[in-house]
Amino acid sequence: MKIAIVYDSVTGNTAKMAEYIMEGAARVEGAEARAFPLDGVDEEYVKESAALIVGTPTYHGTLTARVKAWLEGGPGKLNAAGKLGGAYATAGYIHGGGDLAIQCVLTHLMVAGMMTYSGGSAKGAPVIHLGPVAIAPNLDEFADLFRIYGERMAAQAARISA
Ligand SMILES: Cc1cc2nc3c(=O)[nH]c(=O)nc-3n(C[C@H](O)[C@H](O)[C@H](O)COP(=O)(O)O)c2cc1C
Repeated sequence: MKIAIVYDSVTGNTAKMAEYIMEGAARVEGAEARAFPLDGVDEEYVKESAALIVGTPTYHGTLTARVKAWLEGGPGKLNAAGKLGGAYATAGYIHGGGDLAIQCVLTHLMVAGMMTYSGGSAKGAPVIHLGPVAIAPNLDEFADLFRIYGERMAAQAARISA
């Protein structure tokens, strides 16, 4: 079962957090996750994936314009409808808009027909409401949160694709 992560990253933070999500997804038997920058998406891999997770830096309190542009053209053409969708963000400030960035991505995924998921509070600690946010530059403090998020997304993708 494949899981695709598509991210925007200018200074590497959002790319780095994708690595942790992949580590967590790999804990689920039979799951394989790969991550792609926006300009290097393997469309065949995304089409074959059971889940799509989109990562965005937080710019001006929300997602980046590049992610928004990709979302306006991307998922609809990639067989995303009916599949599991998720989102994560990195930000410079805890109050900087990471949650809103995630919410905007999830809205796009729903409009594309995806079933959005994070695990929410149903899985206990750590609670991951809309999706995980890592605050730069202390990214490694969020490593386990992102691993657990990857594991929960992969487990749910396996459940619904069984
Ligand atoms: C143009 C610009 C705008 C930003 N705006 C915000 C913001 O509104 N809120 C915030 O918390 N961080 C903001 N940041 C910080 C980035 O979200 C943060 O450094 C992020 O991890 C960068 O991701 P990347 O390294 O993957 O490019 C901004 C950074 C840039 C360059």
